[in-house]
Amino acid sequence: MIVKPCHVSLLFFVRYQVSERVIMDIKSFQYNNITEIDKQLLKSLLYFIWEDINIEDIHPQEMNVMSFCAIEKNEFIGYLGVVSWNIIVKNKTFKMCGLSCVCTHPEYREQGIGSMLVRKATEWIMQDGRFDIGLFTCSQKHSPFYEHVGWWQKCSNLVLKESDREGAYVSDSLQLNVFKLLISAKAKLYANYFENSIVTLNFPKGKFI
Ligand SMILES: CC(C)(COP(=O)(O)OP(=O)(O)OC[C@H]1O[C@@H](n2cnc3c(N)ncnc32)[C@H](O)[C@@H]1OP(=O)(O)O)[C@@H](O)C(=O)NCCC(=O)NCCS
Repeated sequence: MIVKPCHVSLLFFVRYQVSERVIMDIKSFQYNNITEIDKQLLKSLLYFIWEDINIEDIHPQEMNVMSFCAIEKNEFIGYLGVVSWNIIVKNKTFKMCGLSCVCTHPEYREQGIGSMLVRKATEWIMQDGRFDIGLFTCSQKHSPFYEHVGWWQKCSNLVLKESDREGAYVSDSLQLNVFKLLISAKAKLYANYFENSIVTLNFPKGKFI
């Protein structure tokens, strides 16, 4: 249930009642413009979930990430970043986006927060108009979560590769599932390619999605 929407220039907040216990805001902003306060809040959440994460390095500037934060009582209780990047497929450039660092604080799981973040981010992606295709990987363990949320399609024969460097991350070697979202008419024209192929992302060294 939406309680109160309000828009503030590049940021927006929307308030949702996700359960009897939790009323949260979803705050969205460009990660490159993150405030120090929000960075500290995000650090607290991400370190809690992934102890070894390097927050200074989570979203490289050139990936122009759009951040979606679930907030309750001034704490970040959930997070998702939408990465944007150009990939070259069959000598054509496709504007790609992908979901990164999707998480809910353990005390708030199973209340619809993760799926709300994925839904809101996906609506934003679809409405933005810039993107051709969405691609990201996720563990076997978490695939049912994305299948449950919908929109994104699990691809059995699509492989994502970080880059051509030696030792690059490759989704199938890491036993990760690939999810995709065909957005533009151009991407739909190449639907077969995005079903059965290896897509090299040309990400910065050691970055994956
Ligand atoms: C995955 C994660 C974000 C889900 O967040 P959440 O807020 O608990 O998700 P939701 O409450 O919206 O769950 C929606 C549905 O997915 C299901 N679900 C959630 N996590 C699941 C999982 N790991 N496996 C299978 N189903 C899952 C829920 O049971 C729920 O189903 P229901 O509506 O029938 O009850 C959360 O478990 C998390 O932060 N995990 C650790 C971080 C992580 O590894 N993230 C990477 C994801 S690729």
